[in-house]
Amino acid sequence: MSLLENLEWRYATKKMNGKAVPQEKVDYILEAARLSPSSSGLQPYRVIVVTDPEIKEKMKPIAWDQSQITDASHILVFAAWENYTEEKIKAVFKETLTARGLPLDKMDAYRERLWGMYSQLPEEWHAHHAAKQAYIAFGTAIAAAAEQKVDATPMEGFDPEGLDALLGLKELGLKSAVVLPLGYRDEENDWLAGMKKFRTPKEEFIITSDELVEQ
Ligand SMILES: Cc1cc2nc3c(=O)[nH]c(=O)nc-3n(C[C@H](O)[C@H](O)[C@H](O)COP(=O)(O)O)c2cc1C
Repeated sequence: MSLLENLEWRYATKKMNGKAVPQEKVDYILEAARLSPSSSGLQPYRVIVVTDPEIKEKMKPIAWDQSQITDASHILVFAAWENYTEEKIKAVFKETLTARGLPLDKMDAYRERLWGMYSQLPEEWHAHHAAKQAYIAFGTAIAAAAEQKVDATPMEGFDPEGLDALLGLKELGLKSAVVLPLGYRDEENDWLAGMKKFRTPKEEFIITSDELVEQ
C-alpha cells in the first residue's frame, strides 16, 4: 500500500480490542520516530514506552478516562526537554561530530549563534519549541503505525502535569507533550470504525502563490 493509502486506512481509534502489538512492529514505529528530523538535529525529546498494566490503570484517569489507555498494548509518551541549555546543545553537537568523524570545533560558530539566540528566550519558549520537535516525531510514528497496520490514537486529552508526576518525568528534565496508544481496533464497538474520513477540501486547504493578494 502507498503512503496515501495507509493514511486513508488509519483513523484515531476510539475503541481498541486489547490484542498486543508484536514487539517488532513497535520497534519499527519507534525507529521511525527516532529517525525524524528536528531543529538543528537536537532531538529535544524522548519517547517513553508504557506497557505495565498497573501504570496504564493509573494513567487512564489522567487521560480523561479514555479506554484506549488500557486497551492498547503499548502507550508511547512523547516527552520534550523542559528547556535547552548550553551543555545539552554542546553534548548533541559533540556526539554528532564524533559520529561523523569531523573535528569537534567544526560547528562552533553555528552552535554559539544558536545558543546566543536560545539563551535570550524565556523558559516557556524553550519547552514549547522542544514540544514542537516532538510532534514531528509523533507524526512520523503515526504514519509508521499505519504502514504496519497497527492502530493508534493521537492523544492530547490528558493532564500533562499529572502524567509527568506519574512517570517521574520532571526528574528526567522532561515534560509530556503528546501520547500515542498502539493497539488494534475493535471494529464492532468503535463508532468511528468505517466512517468516511473528512478533511478540508483541497481547493481550500492549498493556497497557491497565484491566489495571494498582492500586498
Ligand atoms: C495532537 C492530537 C491530539 C488528539 N487528541 C485526541 C484525544 O485525546 N482523544 C481522541 O480520541 N482523539 C484525539 N485526536 C484525534 C483527532 O480528533 C483526529 O485525528 C482527527 O479528528 C482526524 O481524524 P482521523 O485521525 O480519524 O483521521 C487527536 C489528534 C491529534 C493530532
